[in-house]
Amino acid sequence: MQAAFQRRYGPPSVVEPSEVELPLPRKGEVLVRVGAASVHPGDYFVMTGVPYLVRLVYGFRRPRHGIPGRDLAGVVTAIGAGVSALRPGDEVFGWSTTGTLAQYARVPERNLALVPADVSVTAAAAVPTSAMTALQALRDIAEVRPGQSVLVTGASGGVGSFAVQIAKAFGAEVTAVCSTRNIGMVRSLGADHVVDYTTTDFTRADKRYDVILDNVEAQPLAAMRRALAPTGTLIPNSGRGSRWLGPLGRIAKARILSGFTRQRLKPFTSFGKRADLLALADLLATGMVTPVIDRIYPLDEAADALRHVGAGHTRGKVVVTV
Ligand SMILES: NC(=O)c1ccc[n+]([C@@H]2O[C@H](COP(=O)([O-])OP(=O)(O)OC[C@H]3O[C@@H](n4cnc5c(N)ncnc54)[C@H](OP(=O)(O)O)[C@@H]3O)[C@@H](O)[C@H]2O)c1
Repeated sequence: MQAAFQRRYGPPSVVEPSEVELPLPRKGEVLVRVGAASVHPGDYFVMTGVPYLVRLVYGFRRPRHGIPGRDLAGVVTAIGAGVSALRPGDEVFGWSTTGTLAQYARVPERNLALVPADVSVTAAAAVPTSAMTALQALRDIAEVRPGQSVLVTGASGGVGSFAVQIAKAFGAEVTAVCSTRNIGMVRSLGADHVVDYTTTDFTRADKRYDVILDNVEAQPLAAMRRALAPTGTLIPNSGRGSRWLGPLGRIAKARILSGFTRQRLKPFTSFGKRADLLALADLLATGMVTPVIDRIYPLDEAADALRHVGAGHTRGKVVVTV
């Protein structure tokens, strides 16, 4: 089959269109003919092998699975032993840790849900990791309640564009922080207030927020805490950081500091959960959440998709169609 493939860690140029062996579904897995796969910053970290911490999981010298990508949507074409809930022909979306930027991917059945009627495969592929991160941050970590004030930085990005919509679905009053060119876009997602970070520093304003989901971490913790209510929750969520440990240093600092303040400082790591994929399928089906698609690339230009995401200015999601 055709796939994007990398033989070593490095910049996007290490990812090349290649002919590789068709995977076989193992026990509990299905084979999915990929219709579309989306790319997010974590895929970029895995491709480069930086922060080096990722190599503990993905292979020390070279990526264990040469096919990049995690999120996908497509059609089940074969099922492995023990698969009971899915059948060939089912249209599904979800995530795989063995590569999705390819014509086919093997995926554990528990990582998949049916694509809701009237939702395209391209839109469904944009959802899993970014929307699950937004959902888990707002629902499980911040426990957002109706009427609370929620501020989202990086509101125009993959996680942020879902977070704005999910916080609105939870009944919050949402402030979105973005650059001038994205003001209209985040308003269309339902943001009640928009702060243009190129002209205004929200940490210097009087307003205090019950919840801040910080997807950018452009400002130090002390500045973010100024904008947080006395018992509010701050979720530092940027994956960027040092070459060796990525965001771990900042995460440790926030955890230590949280012992000395009534403010809740809650860095977290999202994880794939089928129940959350089903919750997102409901939000898609009811139209409460609609993915924003920034750019669509063909499979043989997957390296360009990764390059665009790595530049850090994505508007919504970047999708590769197969
Ligand atoms: N905790 C977890 O488990 C987890 C899971 C997934 C992702 N993440 C992390 O979450 C972060 C966000 O991911 P993403 O997929 O949303 O990234 P993304 O798609 O690259 O979006 C980043 C967005 O931030 C905007 N931006 C840049 N500087 C900004 C600033 N100072 N203030 C406000 N917005 C700014 C960018 O647009 P402009 O440059 O045009 O303004 C862009 O739209 C990443 O660092 C990722 O690693 C963490």
